[in-house]
Parts: sequence; C-alpha cells; structure tokens
Amino acid sequence: MTYSCLKNKVALITGAASGIGKATAIALAKEGAKIVLVDLNNNRAESTEEQIKQLGGQCLFLDTDVANAQRVEQAIKDAIVEFGTLDIIFANAGINGTVAPIEDLTPDNWDETLTTNLKSTFLTVKYSIPHMKKNGGSIIITSSINGNRNFASFGMSAYSTSKAGQVAFAKMAALELAQYKIRVNVICPGAIETNIGENTFKQPEVKKIEIPVIYPEGSQPLEHAPGKPEQVADLVTFLASSASSHISGTEIYIDGAETLL
Ligand code: NAI
Repeated sequence: MTYSCLKNKVALITGAASGIGKATAIALAKEGAKIVLVDLNNNRAESTEEQIKQLGGQCLFLDTDVANAQRVEQAIKDAIVEFGTLDIIFANAGINGTVAPIEDLTPDNWDETLTTNLKSTFLTVKYSIPHMKKNGGSIIITSSINGNRNFASFGMSAYSTSKAGQVAFAKMAALELAQYKIRVNVICPGAIETNIGENTFKQPEVKKIEIPVIYPEGSQPLEHAPGKPEQVADLVTFLASSASSHISGTEIYIDGAETLL
C-alpha cells in the first residue's frame, strides 16, 4: 500500500530513535514525508537519521526530553524553522517505568511515568496546534492495551493510568480540534518487539500482588508471537494519510486479538 498524499508532508515523531517510532519514521519517509525525529540524544537516533537520509529522505533530529515543556516547545519551533509547517504528529515516546505494587511505588516513580507518557502527550499536542490550525492535519498518539483492555500487567498501575489518560485526552482533543480539520486518533498496541525493556524496572515486590494468569496455548492467538514495529507503523501511516480522512477520536487496538482472550 502506498500513500502519495503523504509526499512532502512534515511529520514530527517522538520516541523516534527506536521501536515503533523508528519504524514509523522510516515508513513515512518512504512515502516522501519530511521527518522530524524527537528523542533523547543517543546513537540510535543518529542511526535512524542516517537510515532515512540513505533512503533519500529529508530528516531533522532534535535532542529533546519530551517531559520538559520548554524543550518540547523549542523542538516544535525548530521543526517549523527547518520545514515551515507541521502536518502529522506522532506522540509516541514512552517508558514502562517502575513496575511495583502501589504501596511500594514512590511518588517520584509515579511522576516519572506519568510525566514521560501522559504530560508529554499534552505538551506535544499543545505546542503543535498553532502550526496545524491553518491547514489541518493528523495527530496519532501511542497508548496501549494496558489501562484500556488489559488490567493484568501487575505492578503497572502508573503505566496503565498514563495509557488510559492518553485515550481520554485523544478524544477530548479530537472534538476540540475538529474545527481546524485536525484529526486525533490513538493506537493501543499489544506486545510489540522493541527496546522498551530497557525502560522497564520491575521490582521483586511485584511477586506479592501477582495473580497467575495462564494460557496453555499462548496468549497471542493470531501470530503466536509479539507484533513487529513495522506492523504498527503501517497503522500509523494509514492514520496519517487521507485514506483515514473520516476517522477521528477513535482508539484502534493492534494486538493480534491478544486482549480478547
Ligand atoms: P522503545 O523503548 O523501543 O522506544 C521508545 C523511545 O522513546 C526510545 O527511543 C526512548 O529513547 C524514547 N524516550 C523515552 N523517554 C523519552 C523522553 N523523556 N524524551 C524523549 N524520548 C524518550 O519502545 P516502544 O515499544 O517503541 O515504545 C513506543 C511507545 O509504544 C511507548 O509509548 C510505549 O508505551 C508504547 N507501547 C509499546 C508496547 C510494546 O510492547 N513495545 C505495547 C504498547 C504500547
């Protein structure tokens, strides 16, 4: 499937150096979009930038902590200076954070996860609006099955709360921004093979609260394996394109039927 409507559109992607964000940056670049990569400065960001340039794509990397309001505002300004407009926003950066029983989770643990996942979504959307109002566009937010259809990831109360909040925020934003022809949708992936394990800090105390859940034939009915970031990128590309022009305020599960079990 190709989407010629994405040619020369400007797409800003957070968490673009790895996993779902990276796969999406590459997918949109292949469609001819100009890409703004937003992530923390690391060699994965450089490698993603290099891959896009090798595809002949235009690309700008902005070293930005998405939890920091001033840095996000500045990143959006820098994107506008480079490319003049913003058409597609993929608010995707996130961490699993500290995984612990509620009584062991510290207020700082809670704040880190909520700020990185949920406040960052607000900041990314907020500072993009002034630049998208004139021509409209598409905003896509990465939530999760957790906090929406799945509540059995023990110890992930902060993560699940941040992910549920993203869905509510997406629906509020879809209604509020409809007058500007800005669509807002939210995706809820199941298990996807990425590097998110590096930002997962499971505490041994989780054992105290776990309730065993067993699926003798596995928990992934469709493919018997986690999804690939490229499969999620295909969905985001569709939501970014005019092929989804009547879809706004919708959450879409991409989990191979995992959460229907
Ligand atoms: P990943 O770890 O491969 O990529 C996440 C990227 O976000 C990394 O490059 C990381 O540097 C960046 N990031 C983290 N904190 C940041 C910050 N403060 N500022 C800027 N960048 C930051 O993980 P993945 O899986 O690609 O995660 C993307 C999104 O997908 C997250 O929101 C995650 O919650 C969500 N998700 C992932 C699932 C999975 O199974 N991998 C399932 C459901 C949702």
